[in-house]
Amino acid sequence: MQAQGLATGWLTGTSTDCRPGGVPPSRPWRMVLLGPPGVGKGTQAALIEAAIDACHLSTGDLFRAAAASHVPPSPAMQAALAGIARGELASDGMVIALLRERVHCLTCPHGFLLDGFPRTAPQATVLEALLDEASVALDGAVYLQAPDAVIIERLSGRRVCRTCRRSHHLDHHPPCRSGCCDACGGQLYQRDDDVPAAIAVRLAHYARTTPALLAFYQQRGLLRTVDATGTPHDVFARAETTIGWRLGVQPPVTPARHPAQDA
Ligand code: AP5
Ligand code: MG
Repeated sequence: MQAQGLATGWLTGTSTDCRPGGVPPSRPWRMVLLGPPGVGKGTQAALIEAAIDACHLSTGDLFRAAAASHVPPSPAMQAALAGIARGELASDGMVIALLRERVHCLTCPHGFLLDGFPRTAPQATVLEALLDEASVALDGAVYLQAPDAVIIERLSGRRVCRTCRRSHHLDHHPPCRSGCCDACGGQLYQRDDDVPAAIAVRLAHYARTTPALLAFYQQRGLLRTVDATGTPHDVFARAETTIGWRLGVQPPVTPARHPAQDA
């Protein structure tokens, strides 16, 4: 399994082999993770990645990498980053262009977990076309669902590692050492879009764009809805049951324990 955050081909847009020498699974999984901001897409992606060895590919990570880069962003990227900090969505055109640059990741022999893409029906249409062109089938669209109150609480307490991008939570998954990532010791920070005003904007965009997206995958028989309340491992267990049942595969191995459960 690759360590979280090392999908270098995804982050750089090159076709770098992210896992030189890594043996791909005999049956790669290809899924998209849908759900409101802060519902736990990244958290579940890390657990699922550990279980089925698929690459975790987050479009939000692409923007945060651009924001943190020493290379000055293009004017278009600068404008997108300013909007994202306010809680707005990037344009379909920009996100689709970023995905096209990384189309090699869709045929990775390890499979993929796309986190945060697609977010609109036009994005889903483009993804479908790219997968068709590559003769690759999507196994499922995993839709994580939780009430707004749960989401707001998760977003407000989130702290992210600047180095490995792992998420912590001040209450649910507090770092062992204040301000430091448990996984790599990197500095934890609060995302610009995790403040109340931006959270409200993000939830409003989500409510506007999601019904058409869910309908898109529902019509294709790919939608798998998972209750995302409870601990990360509760959610993982539900996802595992739902996905394993629908696809008729053996349940994957038990993931590592979440530090919050050991506290
Ligand atoms: P992105 O980074 O994808 O943000 P998001 O969709 O808003 O989702 P988050 O990353 O905030 O939350 P998450 O669901 O991953 O939750 P997490 O696991 O961290 O995108 C950022 C921005 O980029 C977008 O707003 C948009 O502007 C732009 N963008 C990206 N893709 C785009 C696209 N395709 N089109 C247009 N624009 C795009 O968990 C949250 C917190 O809760 C953490 O602290 C975690 O520890 C905690 N937690 C998680 N699960 C649990 C649990 N079960 N119990 C208790 N705590 C939990
Ligand atoms: Mg995320």
